[in-house]
Amino acid sequence: TERTFSIIKPDATKRNLTGAVNAVIEEAGLRIVAQKRIQMTRAQAETFYAVHSERPFFGELVEFMTSGPVVVQVLEGENAIAKYREVMGATNPANAAEGTIRKKFALSVGENTVHGSDAPETAAVEIAQFFAGNEIVG
Ligand code: GTP
Ligand code: MG
Repeated sequence: TERTFSIIKPDATKRNLTGAVNAVIEEAGLRIVAQKRIQMTRAQAETFYAVHSERPFFGELVEFMTSGPVVVQVLEGENAIAKYREVMGATNPANAAEGTIRKKFALSVGENTVHGSDAPETAAVEIAQFFAGNEIVG
């Protein structure tokens, strides 16, 4: 079993879609073993997306991620990282497969409803940025 880090982004919390997104997550067989609603600071968003700091959309990305509440989560399951990437769908909702979270709910490549870790190393770093060990209950 494996853990991945998820964010329900501001476009979704603004539209009251937290529960709808969680329903897709749980129907996919992923267990939500930690979850909290937070307002990300600029510093937290810049640290979280540091890998994208040279990209032209970085400023827009940080603005968006701090534009409203987000729900940070730890998801657990068999092959959780790859499974959640599949459930999320492509980054650009125009390319996302039917039934995926981004196909159902995302507004654009920027306002794309969810984040999910892309590898075990990034999952560990991302989980540790937002959760203490005793906040994760498997
Ligand atoms: P995450 O799970 O959020 O990391 O998405 P991803 O892994 O599918 O995409 P990637 O890591 O390449 O990009 C991170 C995030 O940056 C995306 O989810 C988008 O929110 C945002 N992003 C990527 N490309 C663009 C773009 O061209 N314009 C804007 N505004 N945002 C972008
Ligand atoms: Mg990514």
